[in-house]
Parts: sequence; structure tokens; C-alpha cells
Amino acid sequence: MVKPRVFVTRRWPRAVEAMLADKFEATFNSSDRALSVAELREAVASADAVLPTVTDRIGPAVLETNRLRTKILANYGVGFSHIDVAAAQKWGITVTNTPDVLSECTADLALTLMLMVARRVGEGEREVRSDGWTGWRPTHLLGTKISGKTLGIVGFGRIGRAVAKRAHHGFGMRVVTYDRAQIDAGTLAEFGAEQVQSIDELLPRCDFVSLHCPGGDENHHLIGARQFDLMKPSAFLVNTARGEVVDERALAHALWFDTIAGAGLDVYEGEPSILPELCGCENAVLLPHLGSATKETREAMGFRVIENLTDFFEGRTPKDMVA
Ligand code: DGY
Repeated sequence: MVKPRVFVTRRWPRAVEAMLADKFEATFNSSDRALSVAELREAVASADAVLPTVTDRIGPAVLETNRLRTKILANYGVGFSHIDVAAAQKWGITVTNTPDVLSECTADLALTLMLMVARRVGEGEREVRSDGWTGWRPTHLLGTKISGKTLGIVGFGRIGRAVAKRAHHGFGMRVVTYDRAQIDAGTLAEFGAEQVQSIDELLPRCDFVSLHCPGGDENHHLIGARQFDLMKPSAFLVNTARGEVVDERALAHALWFDTIAGAGLDVYEGEPSILPELCGCENAVLLPHLGSATKETREAMGFRVIENLTDFFEGRTPKDMVA
């Protein structure tokens, strides 16, 4: 039987690449750099499946070609706001993602950022490495305690709930959540959470706000200057969702002028470039999109893509079909 042709846009963990090479006629991007529009156009013209990730912007510029061969975009990652789903649907292309397998590690990283920014871990590390530490003293680098505080979670899906579990059961935090869907009482009780009806209602109550909603146009700049004004001056923002959810200029302003106490970021509007104003903020912790970056999770994401592809090419509906 002729194997379907698949095009993998970035390097994947070795075990997953090996399985892809075994099951499909696979082309890999050995240079592991983000591909250009022209290279992505070539990929959709030559492969039955393209396996993109967050660094590949796939919209009309890539898909509107009279040489389209691709039938499925099997995304490596849960977020897919880099794919224009309407354009894919217009061309009859199926889109899948990789939910579930990355929830725990992404939640762990959200907690890491909360701890880092509240306990001033980045500042302390920079001080030690620059030979600036003069020794223990009672007033040195005083941070903020997280145990027992109130955490606001925007988006109570799989990752939001995994964060709530850790925060409530591990750190004894009160959890307040906003989600467009009504969450059932039993689920809320499991995480000691209370659901509020708007972000405006959530923000003033929280010591920490962690974002777990999708990116894309619908949530573009959901958190901006007006929302920072609603937060407590002692509160911290954590973003492991998508960069576009936060107005980064407004955030830099809020950090410079102490409208809020700090921010922990893993994602950015124009990543990998980061606003210089943010880089200069001592009260920001900046990570390079590490949410799902463990060997276990990155392998699980790849195997999940293979499950989706196998279902698709064997005539079944892939379980992670988003369009
Ligand atoms: C995800 O899974 O959405 C990660 O952010 C990588 O795209």
C-alpha cells in the first residue's frame, strides 16, 4: 500500500520521528528553523498531510494555491490560533490538535511562573550569577507568599483545571474562575473554585491571575490597560496561553508604573521577539514558550499527532478534530 506523504515542519523528539518515518513517507525539516510562506506553500502542494506547529502561520497566503495536495493539518500543540481554520475549511482540509497530554506540564509551568515572579526568583538568580550577592539579611529580596491567596483562572478547560488542582490542593489557594461556559457545581467543588460571570468581576478579587483561554481574534487583547486598572496593585499576572491575549505594551506600562506587582510570561505577541520595554522590567519573569517542554509531554504530543493521522488516513474521524 502506498504510504501517505507527511511533511513535518520542525524537528520532533527522536522516538516520534522514527515512528513517523516508519508509518508514512515523511519529510523532515532537518534545519529546524521556522519555514517561510513559500516553503509552507511547497509543503501543502507536495504532501498529503502537513504537521505544523505554533511557529507556522497557515492562512490564505499558504493555502490559496492551485497545487493544493494536503488534506489534513495535524497540528503539534493544543493551541491552533496560528491556523486559519475558516481558510482550511474552505479548502476542505481537516485540522487536528493535541489536547490532554500537555495539560499537566503546562499547569506545572504556570505554577512555576507564579512562584518565580512572587518569590523574585529571577532577580535572585541574576544577583548570584552577577556576583552581586552580599549575604543573607532579613530584608533581602522580600517577595509575596502564594499559599492561601486568591487565584483567578481565566478559562476553566483542561489546563485551567490542572492549575486549579495544584493551587487549591497544593497551596491552599482560593480559586475564582471565569469561563464562557457554565461549569457544573460538582466540578467547581472539586477544585474549591467559584465561577464569576465576567473578567471585570474576577480581576479585583485576585492576588494572582492566570490565563488559560484560547488565543486568536476572539481573545485578542482580552487583558489590556483597563483590566490592569481593575487588578490589585499587589497582584501578579501569569500567561501560559497565547501572547495575543495580553496587550503587551499596556502590560509593560502597568509593570513600569506599578499598576500591578509583576508578571510571569511564557508566550508573547510577536514571539520570538519580545518588547524591549518588557525585557527591562525586573518584576517580569520571561520564559521562552516552555509550557509543554518536557521529554514525556513532547513525545506524547507527537504520538497523539500520529494517532490523529492514522485515524484520518484509515477513514475514521480523528479524535482531536477541531475543523
Ligand atoms: C501548545 O500546545 O499550544 C503549545 O503552546 C505549543 O504550540
